[in-house]
Amino acid sequence: MTETLDHLFDRNVNWAHRKAAEDPTFFRRLAEQQAPDYLWIGCSDSRITANDVLGLDPGEVFVHRNIANIVHTSDMNILAVLEFAIEVLRVRHIIVTGHYGCGGVRRAMVEERGALVDHWLQPLSMYYRKHRAAFGAMAGDVQRFDRLCEINVEMQVRRVAATPLVENAWARGAALHLHGWIYGLHDGLLRDVGPHVSSVADRDALPTVDSCAHEATEPASAVRRHAAEAFSASAPDGTDAPCCGPSPPGFGPGTPQR
Ligand code: CO
Repeated sequence: MTETLDHLFDRNVNWAHRKAAEDPTFFRRLAEQQAPDYLWIGCSDSRITANDVLGLDPGEVFVHRNIANIVHTSDMNILAVLEFAIEVLRVRHIIVTGHYGCGGVRRAMVEERGALVDHWLQPLSMYYRKHRAAFGAMAGDVQRFDRLCEINVEMQVRRVAATPLVENAWARGAALHLHGWIYGLHDGLLRDVGPHVSSVADRDALPTVDSCAHEATEPASAVRRHAAEAFSASAPDGTDAPCCGPSPPGFGPGTPQR
């Protein structure tokens, strides 16, 4: 017997009615055009949906998702998405968003090989193997896992920045900014991992992604950043704390509020 998933259609009707009640022109406006400022490249994980975590409505963010938000420059899917986002939608920001606790990243750290997903994750698993000593020197398994989740974001931003599609956009003077973020499943907050790249010069000035394995970072959520800024402002010699720089008291590495 066919399962028709009627409960999902019912939920859809409720949602559409609710949106139309809140804003009678909502669907008419969206049907006429989409004009998002952002392209989100994220993980397929069912717990992170771009619109929800950004608090944006349909029409406001163009989305590509795959396992572990990997950017393969031979992936027709992501290249077509990038081309459409840049050339047609003219997005101003491309945001690669990874997440802590990513099963894809975890898979890249294990010895077991041979599944299709291992081919997909190959750039990350090769990175982990190459820098095994640096990861081994980290405090524990949680730190290793978290750091590889962060480095994966940094790696994929560099890969987006290296595509001819993005280079062409910069060459014609388009304002196109690349960002690397990471999301905490445990608190629902986004953190800026970097790098920020807005030009070929920015990209070429970046340290290699290999160096990331040797640098301790501590990406801060906006909640923490605001707290740090308030602390800096109240300190007599207060200076702005960069998001990955020295932490103010109470926010040191290993503290759970990350
Ligand atoms: Co994931």
